[in-house]
Amino acid sequence: MNSQQIRQEFLDFFKSKEHLIVPSAPLVAKNDPTLMFNNSGMAQFKDFFLGNGTPPSRRIADTQKCLRVSGKHNDLEDVGFDTYHHTMFEMLGNWSFGDYFKKEAISWAWELLTEVYKLPKERLYVSVFEGDLKDGVPFDQEAWDIWKPIVGEDRIIMGNKKDNFWEMGDTGPCGPCSEIHVDLRPEAEVLEVSGKSLVNNDHPQVVEIWNLVFMQFERKADGSLIPLPATHVDTGMGFERLCMAVQQKTSNYDTDVFQNTIQVLEKMSGKTYGQETYPDIAMRVISDHIRAVAFAIADGQLPANAKAGYVIRRILRRAVRYGYSYLGLQEPFFHALIPVLSAQFDGVFPELVAQQEFVTKVILEEEKSFLRTLASGLKRLDVIMSKLKAEGVNTIVGADVFELSDTFGFPVDLTALIAREKGLLIDEQGFNDALAEQKTRSRQDAAKETTDWIELRELEDFEFLGYDFEETHSHIVKYRKVKTKTGEEYHIVLDRSPFYAEMGGQVGDTGTLSGQAEGAEFIIQIADTKKENDLFVHISKDKNLDHLLTTTPRVLAKIDSKRRAAIKANHTATHLMLAAMKEVLGSHIVQKGSYLNDEVLRFDFSHFAKMTQQEMQAVEDRVNEKIRENIVLDERIHVPIQEALDLGATATFGEKYGDYVRLIIFDPKYSFELCGGTHVPATGEIGLFKFISEGSVSAGVRRVEAVTGDRALQILREQEEKLNQIKELLKNPSDVIKALETLLEERSSLQKKVSALQNEKLQSVKENLLANAEKFQAFTLIVAQIEVPSADALKQLSFELKDQIEDLIVVLGTVINEKPQLSVYISENLVANANLNAGKIVKDLAKEIKGGGGGQPFFATAGGSDATGLSVALEKARGLF
Ligand code: ALA
Repeated sequence: MNSQQIRQEFLDFFKSKEHLIVPSAPLVAKNDPTLMFNNSGMAQFKDFFLGNGTPPSRRIADTQKCLRVSGKHNDLEDVGFDTYHHTMFEMLGNWSFGDYFKKEAISWAWELLTEVYKLPKERLYVSVFEGDLKDGVPFDQEAWDIWKPIVGEDRIIMGNKKDNFWEMGDTGPCGPCSEIHVDLRPEAEVLEVSGKSLVNNDHPQVVEIWNLVFMQFERKADGSLIPLPATHVDTGMGFERLCMAVQQKTSNYDTDVFQNTIQVLEKMSGKTYGQETYPDIAMRVISDHIRAVAFAIADGQLPANAKAGYVIRRILRRAVRYGYSYLGLQEPFFHALIPVLSAQFDGVFPELVAQQEFVTKVILEEEKSFLRTLASGLKRLDVIMSKLKAEGVNTIVGADVFELSDTFGFPVDLTALIAREKGLLIDEQGFNDALAEQKTRSRQDAAKETTDWIELRELEDFEFLGYDFEETHSHIVKYRKVKTKTGEEYHIVLDRSPFYAEMGGQVGDTGTLSGQAEGAEFIIQIADTKKENDLFVHISKDKNLDHLLTTTPRVLAKIDSKRRAAIKANHTATHLMLAAMKEVLGSHIVQKGSYLNDEVLRFDFSHFAKMTQQEMQAVEDRVNEKIRENIVLDERIHVPIQEALDLGATATFGEKYGDYVRLIIFDPKYSFELCGGTHVPATGEIGLFKFISEGSVSAGVRRVEAVTGDRALQILREQEEKLNQIKELLKNPSDVIKALETLLEERSSLQKKVSALQNEKLQSVKENLLANAEKFQAFTLIVAQIEVPSADALKQLSFELKDQIEDLIVVLGTVINEKPQLSVYISENLVANANLNAGKIVKDLAKEIKGGGGGQPFFATAGGSDATGLSVALEKARGLF
């Protein structure tokens, strides 16, 4: 079976067991503050386990793109060195949401592995959770009893909390698990050492392939476990490892999942995979990392300087660095793997094929810029190493290793390798300390202390009513307190609310929660509304709300309508603008990011050239035309996703859509989008649309900003006001442009005249100095206070004098803008033979003018603050020679 078939068999198997097959969620996690990237199949279903929402089916299966490079699950440093860890991997999973439990999960897993994939039973081992006293969770007798008749007691291994209790992160749903391990060693080895003793021992051919988690608890922020409202199943099978087992290989990289890219790398480098240690590691690193980088970019996460974008940038750099050092690939190469990769995943993850040109371009630009950094990093490393060699030291200190990693993106293992080639070591402990210190620092920066939710009432289904209402009577369901860097805030969840939570680029609503408590009126200010998974969280910065929140069940939730009206106008304008851009710039325009509030709309899109003035005007014209047409909003809710796409709706890559979507249409022939945002009832409400900026965000991505309605008018007025001021300053000429041009011409001709005059003046000062030069036997001395236009003139004069007189010493003083300036010039000949030093002399003289200075032995300058000391300084100079 090739990998495509293996994947399909999995999905078909669970379909036959009445599972709904769903698409993978994007790689980049959205609306989950505990997660940067989806690190497991269950991440997108977290809320269903916690009871915060209802799944579309109680049985689901899929293949999920996962990335384990940050947080609780991080395999980055292992990738390439072993043959079975990855940054991005596919997790095949089946889920039961309060439906079947251990019995079905276990027997189906066994059936699929042994009957469909035909893995030999005698090569499989399973593990069962042994229990944990501290957490108060007992031995999983139930799982043991189910497994025993299937595999026999001697194939069951007891597993501890580390291996057999699965948690997504520090908090969230979790539970004991049973893992299935496979032994892929040759027969002879199996006879010698039993596979059982190698389970969970990092043996590359005795590996876990499937994890069956029995979700029963939620881990709270204080570390405690509470039982979930129902029990669930969450399973995850590493697709790449499964391929290795089914295809009877001994490395994931030998399967067809990676061989395509490895073959391209072989061609590029002229090296053959499987022959030398480091080129092999490099090929594994690169063929792994290209997947993570490509899919992250396709899902909307561009490489950047912070957060998730920085993680992607580092993965990219690690790959480029390995290619550079071990495959001799010193020109950009990484981007060239994209065509093979996207062809391989066409049909499973079409987002890559659809954005092939864009992803390639982004990677190419990153590569180019990193290769420049890399060259400087290698130079820096050379300097560090030569210095150590010269000093007879043999270890590179931790701080230097850290600098190389942090500033130049050098993975530590590579620094160690380069060092070893020169007979040096690296101080790994010192590096780890520096890294830990940085982590603590960034943790402190991001510091947020959260208390657990204080639950006040059951929440059946939250209702967002903000499409139709601006105020609702609501109940407080739960709240928590969060300490942020700037203070403390309350997070409040209601049973129904008109507040839109920040999502799809649209900011969250602000407003108030008001009501009566203990006979008095109260008002809680809501400063923002954010989504956390499927919860709408109303954020208040008001103080001391605990008593009020716990004792007041009912509130009137009311949004700031004026602000919302401006937001709506900006959101609809964004849709009209995107449609116009596609007409004006071409159908390749894809949304790459969007942000809009009540003041401005910002929009990032894929496009390779700067928008010209004409293009911007054409888009503005088209949008304003559509505004004047006053097109009525056509909102369609609960449209099956496929129907929406068939109708031609625009979906954005990297966004997760449910089975049913909301369509926002402004003229079916013009703008047709999947959107959860709020919109004006008719386009006329937008009033006016005007761009205010256009620029580049990164390779292949441009950003425009625009304003609408009152704000657009205000900006136009401000510009008009500025123009009026300019006219007034120019004494209200009939043609202001002409008047300005004349002014600039006059200015430049005056400037020319001024410099000619200054030069003439300088010449006469010079003549004067020459006339008053004092001639001694060995040298000529000029000491004078003069009037010049700038401190630079002192240098110019000194240098012109030196061209006329040999063996010269010139000490000049002047006052510029009430500040005294000094310069000392000494002919090179005198510097060499009379041991004179202009730098030292000027420093000494500067004391008299309460200042300081310096320079070279033949010319130095000083500035000071006390002009009255200038004559003393010059007198002193005369005495020196
Ligand atoms: N959530 C489980 C895992 O990722 C299945 O291993």
